[in-house]
Amino acid sequence: QLHMSSTEAAPTALSAPRVKTSEAKISDELVSIKGWVKTVRKQKTLAFVEVNDGSNMSGIQCVLPFDQVDEATIAEIENLTTGCSVHAIGKIVESQGKQAFELSATSLRLVGSCPGETFPLAKKRHSLEYLRTIAHLRPRTNTIAAVARVRSTLAGSIHSFLQNHGFQYVQTPLITASDCEGAGEMFRVTTLNTDDVASLPRAKDKDGKELPGVDYGEDFFGKAAFLTVSGQLGGETYACALGDVYTFGPTFRAENSQTTRHLAEFWMVEPEMAFADLTSAMNNAESMLKAVVGDVLDKCDEDLEFFAKFFDKGLKDRLLKLRDKPFVRCSYRDAIGYLQEEIAKDPSKWQFPDVEFGTDLATEHERWLAETKFESAVFVYNYPKKIKAFYMRDNDEDGGETVNAMDLLVPGVGELVGGSQREERLDVLVEKMKELDLDVDDYWWYLDLRRFGSVPHAGYGLGFERLVTYVTGIENIRDAIAYPRYPGNAEF
Ligand code: 4AD
Repeated sequence: QLHMSSTEAAPTALSAPRVKTSEAKISDELVSIKGWVKTVRKQKTLAFVEVNDGSNMSGIQCVLPFDQVDEATIAEIENLTTGCSVHAIGKIVESQGKQAFELSATSLRLVGSCPGETFPLAKKRHSLEYLRTIAHLRPRTNTIAAVARVRSTLAGSIHSFLQNHGFQYVQTPLITASDCEGAGEMFRVTTLNTDDVASLPRAKDKDGKELPGVDYGEDFFGKAAFLTVSGQLGGETYACALGDVYTFGPTFRAENSQTTRHLAEFWMVEPEMAFADLTSAMNNAESMLKAVVGDVLDKCDEDLEFFAKFFDKGLKDRLLKLRDKPFVRCSYRDAIGYLQEEIAKDPSKWQFPDVEFGTDLATEHERWLAETKFESAVFVYNYPKKIKAFYMRDNDEDGGETVNAMDLLVPGVGELVGGSQREERLDVLVEKMKELDLDVDDYWWYLDLRRFGSVPHAGYGLGFERLVTYVTGIENIRDAIAYPRYPGNAEF
């Protein structure tokens, strides 16, 4: 249980094995606690120092009776301020306070001081907007630290679920020449390399002034290169060899949207399954979400309690429902019908009242379906071909109007997952790409999958930060990732 590195000396009054506050247990042995001070209270004969090491929300209260601690500790207490880092040694004993235990300290040393006048995190609650301006310090707050722990648990849980179900983790490239979603929302990659300045054209700024580096433009990779919007196409190539695979990595979208659900850099989990259809993809997404939400309920209770108290009273019920109730499945056609019926009652209540077959659902439509109509997570499936990506398989059953695609909509967030069965027939796929003016030659490697042992296959993408907002009840996706990237912001 104790985190002791092999280089750590045997315990003495000034050195003892380190224990994380999340694992602290009442014991007769001396232990070290290392962390950051939340509050200091000095009384006549003793001082209370609340220390948090980030491993859980409650941290630990260190009690320093002046007649028990060494002299250096007494002098050190004067230097303690909120935010400073400390190393305390003592025994973990039963407590009458908020927590079941506390550290009865024999020594405490300041590790790094923290001047109160300039430290941007006062004891009061700060707005999440303000915290975004100090994103490098915000993990010291209860809220952002809890988001980070839940996020980490979710990531571990996703890997475990997929690996336990026979999925291999593949890492697809971030730099790519293909626009998977065909939406033209890609960031271009260029270089400003200071080598070869003599032989290659110099980079220029927007006024035409030469910059110190070289702009390789399309020369570096031999063609225009971009940051990937999705790992799917590479994932498909590996699924058509390894069977079931997944990617889990950063993806990038140059969408100019200032919403609480969009980031320019976000992480996506993309399972891809060979010998699978749309129903398999929906079943897998449903099982995975139930498993990971169940894991967070089991492992992150303290953090979830906090989110329920300060952000979303109904959080736990919502998560339990997602874990325990089957998701609803509703065809796009039916969804449009339900929306039209509802909108007809009072069109003035809707920002986008014109809904018909072919409409790309807006967030208000998605949220109404999940929150009001079904009060449940709902898969909307069989979307019109003309609003979906080139790689989706035509639906054999309805005269070529729809494709085997699905979106999972959840209360509070809207779209959490997007997926489809992929078009596995070479001639149909080529035809479709031509219709959409895609350069078939650029996708020769993708088309090869359909030439050499093609199989029906399907997959989906789960927006990881959207999942974090769903599970924590945090409203803005910018608080679900350490350093959010959005139009106008790439600080830190
Ligand atoms: O629906 P999308 O665009 O699907 C794809 O990219 C497919 N290639 C995935 C696949 O089948 N392998 O995106 C999938 C999910 C969305 O449902 C949403 O949760 C999230 O990614 N997402 C974003 N999250 C944050 N910021 C953005 N700008 C996002 N765009 C999509």
